[in-house]
Amino acid sequence: MAPVCPPISNRDGRFGVCGDVVQTSIFKSPGAAARALAADVTRAVEAHPRLVLGLPTGRTPVPFYRELVRAHQEQGLSLSGVTTFNLDEFIGVPASDPRSYRAFMERQLFGHVDLAPRKINFLDGMADDTDRECSRYERVIARAGGIDIMILGLGTNGHIGFNEPGRFLIADTHRTRLTATTRRANAALFKFRMADVPREALSIGIATILRARRIVLLATGATKARCVERMLTGPVTCALPASFLQLHERVEVWLDRAAARRLQERNGDQPT
Ligand code: GLP
Repeated sequence: MAPVCPPISNRDGRFGVCGDVVQTSIFKSPGAAARALAADVTRAVEAHPRLVLGLPTGRTPVPFYRELVRAHQEQGLSLSGVTTFNLDEFIGVPASDPRSYRAFMERQLFGHVDLAPRKINFLDGMADDTDRECSRYERVIARAGGIDIMILGLGTNGHIGFNEPGRFLIADTHRTRLTATTRRANAALFKFRMADVPREALSIGIATILRARRIVLLATGATKARCVERMLTGPVTCALPASFLQLHERVEVWLDRAAARRLQERNGDQPT
């Protein structure tokens, strides 16, 4: 499915202060973006059955996972050769706990498609030695040949994975403290009992993300509009980790109209 309007731009369909490199596409709804992304991933898997995918959690990718499940069930898409790496996991929440990101992925995707269990990779939030667990993850990613397509969501505070805004970012997979904003954004998984929301997590690092061959960031809804604008038109800064995507040579930002609103206003575009 084609975007509703051609890529918007400050020059040649590209945004970004550092070299005008970010390709931006706007879809008429979150559902349209999800269908297009599922079709794109389907084509990529058909061309390269042993594709390596980086996967996010959060509300945003849920319609995309639904479409991928549909492609598997109704169009014969096989993910049996595909390897996946999820971006992050809470510390202290076992994979078997329904509140873990691992359990979320089982509900949304893994439990409904033919991914081989041994090709599904997750950080272990229960690891005794978290440094070792992070190094293990980096090694497994390298052994898989790196990530072909990294799909990202966007935190309202500009985080990607759990790379939180701060004075510095950590390059490789690491243990991190969650900000109050991020803990609130994840509260639904913990029935809004803030005391239960983990304070720490493991996350793929910013350099691990930037080492992927292709990156697609999916952002939908009005709550992301301001962050999307800053990510694409502001400086590359640790205060907004997603701005580092400007440094990647093959990154695409896929938006619905609501998330693109501030960019379009800035561009003087008519709303689509
Ligand atoms: C979580 C995840 C991120 C995700 C973000 C956005 O904190 N760790 O990887 O991108 O939330 O979530 P949502 O899509 O629900 O806005």
